[in-house]
Amino acid sequence: MKKWISLVTIMVLVALTGCQSASGEEEQNFTLAHNQPTDHPVHQSLARFAELVEEKSEGAMSIKIYPNGELGSEREVIEGTQTGAVDFSKVSGSALESFEPAYSVFSLPYLFESQESFKRVMNNEEVTNDIYMESADKGFRGLTYYDAGVRNVYTKSRMIETSEDMSGLKTRVQPSQTSVQMIEAMGGTPTPMSYGEVYTALQSGVIDAAENNATALTNSNHGEVAKNYFYTEHAIVPDMLIANENIMEDMSDSELQIIEEAAEESTSYHEDLWNETVEEAEATAKEEMNVEFYEVDKQSFSDAVQPLHEEFQNDPDTSDIYNKIKEAE
Ligand code: GCU
Repeated sequence: MKKWISLVTIMVLVALTGCQSASGEEEQNFTLAHNQPTDHPVHQSLARFAELVEEKSEGAMSIKIYPNGELGSEREVIEGTQTGAVDFSKVSGSALESFEPAYSVFSLPYLFESQESFKRVMNNEEVTNDIYMESADKGFRGLTYYDAGVRNVYTKSRMIETSEDMSGLKTRVQPSQTSVQMIEAMGGTPTPMSYGEVYTALQSGVIDAAENNATALTNSNHGEVAKNYFYTEHAIVPDMLIANENIMEDMSDSELQIIEEAAEESTSYHEDLWNETVEEAEATAKEEMNVEFYEVDKQSFSDAVQPLHEEFQNDPDTSDIYNKIKEAE
């Protein structure tokens, strides 16, 4: 409820503060919400996006960023983006699954063969445009993606070598049906919850494990409570920048071009930043937080989730996009 009040307050403030830019045009002030702290590389790339929009529009468009889940969980900010309570948001591809089934493919474990093939697919507009525009009738569209690395399982105390060791392990997943099915197929007990709740849930023992890239250990401090990180490398889920559809439709061609170019350039900017940060996060987690990193029998995890691939290939809602991704890889 509180989150909704803040979303509504922002909408009113933005409406009241419309003013003139240096060039005399009516200034457009947009809002962008996401759940990462400001020292996270995704925040920095979003800040770059906002800066580029302002530069390219010569001050006629500006974007205020609300980080840290200030405007709510990913689910709440997607809902806000649908209604226009917030103009843009950055959320995980997995969080979009319950709003637009086309995104479910990103949560499919072992979908991409490597990080290189992930990038090849994500930089192929023929694949991504279909996904990005699929949700237009639901009130939002995708603009671009940000690399959010490879996801791995981490635990408070359980040691893991094969998928059999996942048996009964209460593992937090993103609120996505495919992620729930993934942990079930591995033998674990999935607990969907929003990212902001994971630290406390690990600490209090509501969950025994979670799965994410290594910045979860450092930027979100999960490494303080979870000391074992296993290279299951089970998923590469992109972060997505989405926009309210009405705002995009009301823009002139040149305004839209500014937004699209800024989005694309911020994705390239993010590339180097991401690789550096993940390396640093692993080093910090090891050296300063005493997290241990382990190799596992990846094949046993990949074998356990094969039935999910078959489901995606046979389901008419997902087979086209699954095949398109496989061809583009
Ligand atoms: C990643 C992603 C976030 C997401 C989080 C999660 O860190 O970048 O957008 O919220 O995973 O597991 O929920």
